[in-house]
Amino acid sequence: MNGTMVENKPKLGFIGVGWIGRNRLQAIANENIANIKVISDPNQQFAEEALLLAPQAEVMPSLQEMITSDLDGVIIATPSALHASQSIEAIHEGKAVFCQKPLGRNAEEVRNVVQAAQDKNVLLGVDFSYRFTQGIQALKQVLDSGELGTIYGVNLVFHNAYGPDKPWYFDPKLAGGGCVMDLGVHLVDLLVWLFNNPEVNEVNSQLFSKGKPITNVEEQVEDYAVAQMLINSSIAVQFACSWNLPAGVDAVIEASFYGTNGGVSFKNINGSFYDFVTERFYGTSRQAISTPGDAWGGKAAINWAEELAAKGNQFNPEAHQYVKAAEILDKIYNRK
Ligand SMILES: NC(=O)c1ccc[n+]([C@@H]2O[C@H](COP(=O)([O-])OP(=O)(O)OC[C@H]3O[C@@H](n4cnc5c(N)ncnc54)[C@H](O)[C@@H]3O)[C@@H](O)[C@H]2O)c1
Repeated sequence: MNGTMVENKPKLGFIGVGWIGRNRLQAIANENIANIKVISDPNQQFAEEALLLAPQAEVMPSLQEMITSDLDGVIIATPSALHASQSIEAIHEGKAVFCQKPLGRNAEEVRNVVQAAQDKNVLLGVDFSYRFTQGIQALKQVLDSGELGTIYGVNLVFHNAYGPDKPWYFDPKLAGGGCVMDLGVHLVDLLVWLFNNPEVNEVNSQLFSKGKPITNVEEQVEDYAVAQMLINSSIAVQFACSWNLPAGVDAVIEASFYGTNGGVSFKNINGSFYDFVTERFYGTSRQAISTPGDAWGGKAAINWAEELAAKGNQFNPEAHQYVKAAEILDKIYNRK
């Protein structure tokens, strides 16, 4: 039931157990914080591999069957086009929802999901996993302390020297976009979360595909994107992300913040997708305040399941941040 307490270990169903779905299922199973009751995926091999991680679970053929069974919440990791409609279906049955990013392909879809969760008073979470890295947590403490003085510059980067390996990622209707929807979504989420719903004054962007500017984002997905934004009328944000960039390493990931009293910077090390360092900058010197090695991948999902167990199934108003981030993404795509 919505808006109510749940058992200590929430009863969960997993819909879509491809790469990230099985990864998050494993993370929840390892923590032993939930009762994994149902698995659903049209790919039988993936469903069987997921069952190895949660042998007590039952395999069901559809989301409809899953959400009408005795569950507290549903974890969605299907292709992006399905996220909004599947989230709303589950919410209407009063289930808590944890969805992979992006929650929707545009702001309208995201707004509809958040509104449905609020109306039904159910817990809604999205897998913005970078929030939960030790490095970003340390960076947030610096920003929240005010010690950087007046912040005026932000640099956000996510280049992946590889591209996705599944065809649906290259269809704008199925993916909602290219590298911005896949990687840039994490950067925009960090911006909105760290600055607590900033006002967005200007967004100028350029999107490319295979070295050429894109003319119609409904027909082509971008593999290189840059944007310049002004937020809170006083902070200049530079944003860049890509697939298949000849970056000289596997990945370049960065979130740096500059103020009148110094800087703080979260960066991947040695091109890694998983290892990060956060450094505090003082003029020309620097000090590491977070070192690599934390297992952060499944933490957003774990945090959601723990919140469901501790507070019951109720809407968390922080979910409105998902709408703000989606509105910025629409602006990067020049959507009306
Ligand atoms: N949070 C993150 O950092 C992160 C990382 C990777 C992927 N993702 C997101 O996770 C989602 C899945 O990505 P992936 O790489 O695991 O893709 P994937 O193709 O490996 O997995 C998708 C799974 O959904 C299944 N599926 C398709 N239609 C379905 C339906 N109607 N009902 C149930 N299952 C269905 C497929 O059979 C497949 O097993 C994407 O939206 C992606 O953006 C998020």
